[in-house]
Amino acid sequence: MSRATPFSLDDRTALVTGAGSGIGRGIAHGLAAAGAEVILVGRSEAVHRTAEEITSSGGAARAVQADLSDLRAADELPRTIGEDTEVDILVNCAGTIYRSPFLEHEDERWRDVLDINLEAPRVLSRAFGAQMVDRGRGKIVNIASLLSFQGGVNVAAYTTSKHALVGLTKALANEWASRGVQVNAIAPGYIDTDNTAPLRADAQRDAEILSRIPTGRWGTADDLAGAAVYLSSAASDYVTGHTLVVDGGWMSR
Ligand SMILES: NC(=O)c1ccc[n+]([C@@H]2O[C@H](COP(=O)([O-])OP(=O)(O)OC[C@H]3O[C@@H](n4cnc5c(N)ncnc54)[C@H](OP(=O)(O)O)[C@@H]3O)[C@@H](O)[C@H]2O)c1
Repeated sequence: MSRATPFSLDDRTALVTGAGSGIGRGIAHGLAAAGAEVILVGRSEAVHRTAEEITSSGGAARAVQADLSDLRAADELPRTIGEDTEVDILVNCAGTIYRSPFLEHEDERWRDVLDINLEAPRVLSRAFGAQMVDRGRGKIVNIASLLSFQGGVNVAAYTTSKHALVGLTKALANEWASRGVQVNAIAPGYIDTDNTAPLRADAQRDAEILSRIPTGRWGTADDLAGAAVYLSSAASDYVTGHTLVVDGGWMSR
């Protein structure tokens, strides 16, 4: 049944990286509920579980395991999923964080964070963006962070990667605006996932964070689904180069 709403993703195929857990999993569920067929990409077997959850609730999903820190694997992804698969929506959500004071930050960890958080989205945007530009239609949604705007505490590589991801978002948006491809980002606030478990485990840090969130609670992965559907759908066809903050009010404080 066709949904007569600008938010419908009927007849759209979305590829979501990092869809085995946390925010990527929440976004994959949201896109599938809006009608998209979703291709879930992640490093571990967890992506198969998300695919099962979606198909068992009537959605269309399949899972592909790939380590996106291997940029050749990222570049090969269009062929891995099948060259006849047209990806209309790319959500770059896979990400990693490494907590360390800058003076002790290991170079190898720095490169890992930059590879997964910035280089993989760059390579995937080129691989799938080329098809979108050819077709004259497409949506790319990058998962940024409040640390795309702020410095953070002992996470210099992560902050660097997320600032740069917003720069990449604007640069590609600008290049492809006249080609029918919109490139936007979502900056989640403090969301209850594995990524932020160490912050919640530290009672003092947890209290400091909560005291600054006007909504008074940590976000959930499901809180990101609406923004992802909006930026993936025709509802946002005149929106490009934008970073949509979904943070319970943190940045307005
Ligand atoms: N939680 C927050 O408060 C918050 C705030 C702002 C932004 N974000 C961003 O949101 C995104 C998702 O994070 P999350 O909070 O949902 O944490 P998460 O549950 O740890 O999710 C990270 C996902 O990225 C995948 N991933 C990591 N390295 C990968 C690799 N080399 N190849 C393929 N997939 C890889 C993981 O898959 P495997 O488990 O299979 O390795 C996992 O599913 C990240 O970009 C993060 O920076 C999170």
